[in-house]
Amino acid sequence: MLLAFGVRLLLYHPVPLIFIILSSVGHGNAGITSTFIRSEWPSVDIPLDHEAFAIPKGHNAPQQVHITQGDYDGTAVIISWVTTDEPGNTKVQYGTSKEKYDFTAEGTVTNYTFYNYKSGYIHHCLVDGLEYNKKYYYKIGVGESSREFWFQTPPDIDPDASYTFGIIGDLGQTYNSLSTLEHYMQSGGQTVLYVGDLSYADRYEYNNVGIRWDSWGRFIERSSAYQPWIWSAGNHEIEYMPRMGEVLPFKSYLHRFMTPHIASNSSSPLWYAVRRASAHIIVLSSYSPFVKSTLQWKWLHEELKRVDRLKTPWLIVLMHVPIYSSNQGHYMEGESMRAVFESWFVCSKVDFIFAGHVHAYERSYRISNIHYNVSSGDRYPVPDRSAPVYITVGDGGNQEGLAGRFWDPQPDYSAFREASYGHSTLEIRNRTHAFYHWNRNDDGKKAQTDSVVFYNQYWASNMQRRRLRKNHCKL
Ligand SMILES: *[C@@H]1O[C@H](CO)[C@@H](O)[C@H](O)[C@H]1NC(C)=O
Ligand SMILES: *[C@@H]1O[C@H](CO)[C@@H](O)[C@H](O)[C@H]1NC(C)=O
Ligand SMILES: *[C@@H]1O[C@H](CO)[C@@H](O)[C@H](O)[C@H]1NC(C)=O
Ligand SMILES: *[C@@H]1O[C@H](CO)[C@@H](O)[C@H](O)[C@H]1NC(C)=O
Ligand SMILES: [Fe+2]
Repeated sequence: MLLAFGVRLLLYHPVPLIFIILSSVGHGNAGITSTFIRSEWPSVDIPLDHEAFAIPKGHNAPQQVHITQGDYDGTAVIISWVTTDEPGNTKVQYGTSKEKYDFTAEGTVTNYTFYNYKSGYIHHCLVDGLEYNKKYYYKIGVGESSREFWFQTPPDIDPDASYTFGIIGDLGQTYNSLSTLEHYMQSGGQTVLYVGDLSYADRYEYNNVGIRWDSWGRFIERSSAYQPWIWSAGNHEIEYMPRMGEVLPFKSYLHRFMTPHIASNSSSPLWYAVRRASAHIIVLSSYSPFVKSTLQWKWLHEELKRVDRLKTPWLIVLMHVPIYSSNQGHYMEGESMRAVFESWFVCSKVDFIFAGHVHAYERSYRISNIHYNVSSGDRYPVPDRSAPVYITVGDGGNQEGLAGRFWDPQPDYSAFREASYGHSTLEIRNRTHAFYHWNRNDDGKKAQTDSVVFYNQYWASNMQRRRLRKNHCKL
């Protein structure tokens, strides 16, 4: 019964190329609306004294440890943590064998207030010049309360590098969030692509906003101290709260979470790009200006030209608000960004656009709606083999609960949809193949519910033609 909802659109093994190309357009199958309803925990936040938020022992012990990629190509990480008693040491000691820290990097410390809440001392330290494909151990804090962690650098930028990304969105800090995080950690994912809405601390008032950012930092540490989370911001990061005297957008988020935006020549930490293994990942901000001539628009225009599919075949875009979603929740909120960027996504042959915001799971076929132009043109999305697949993974499990109502009938563009909590994994194998899974949270076992083999948008179609046209796209 349960397994019947797993779909395999494409066969795993040698298939004639023509079939691959036709199938990647994907309109042969009617979409699936899964009727699975799993029992879920109530959508309430875990109490602050729960062990999921345990405070490390010792004077000024580092807590809320998280790392992210620190440069364009993956030989640097930014390590961040919070100390609560005093600013303390901003150094990171690191090396390639355990308890032997040959190197030291010096970081910075910042703090902020939110209403009457005073943050701890927030440390950010860039550790660069790392070697590819190596395990590094690192130590932060001093004496008895110092703490040690490790991370693995990615393989060199290479078109055939295999790499597994996890995709998580709208996580929050409920028992469902914990289930999502624990399932993700068993998935073999090496880096998280985070599609916005982090802590949901803005559901609280006054000093509790800051307190719930701190608890969230401790909550994700079990994963984020050991592997990079690539951040994008959602509406819950804005925290425009004039009644508490707080009107500076993204204040908590920008103090706590760093991104390597300067490495991609972005003017804001809210939009940027990184390359990792065989993937080029572009992060957009749904809540920053993006219409023609804005800074984000100009930057994306330049960044798409920098994409080199000969080096990084897989082109992935992250944003918070989905462009194609048939859920009644937040319906058409992504339409303005679609109008501005969709033609670029199609002509650049983006592989995947991952988004969150809608608290459910949905995957589209390759479709586009770029011929519509107000005065005429086709008003409906049509199959388009150059178009990205749009995937909404806003089902991390935050306290707002699931978005359970989809429009009926299921639109032609929607391939699979289900309102359950979970996360996705994208296992890139080489320049042509990637195995994608959406994993519904399920008690005690792996539940891969939506599994698809994806063929690379650049190489799969160029293999046949044996012709690699560089400027196939006029941006
Ligand atoms: C930051 O910490 C310093 C040192 O404890 C303190 O004097 C200052 O008021 C704090 N700033 C903010 C904005 O909280
Ligand atoms: C950013 O700009 C500088 C100066 O123009 C250039 O050297 C560098 O390559 C650019 N970075 C990227 C990722 O294109
Ligand atoms: C609008 O779309 C129609 C049909 O595709 C096309 O003929 C027309 O030139 C377009 N108009 C503009 C202003 O682009
Ligand atoms: C790429 O990976 C797929 C899936 O593992 C495999 O079938 C295919 O042979 C690989 N291609 C190359 C060129 O290694
Ligand atoms: Fe959201």
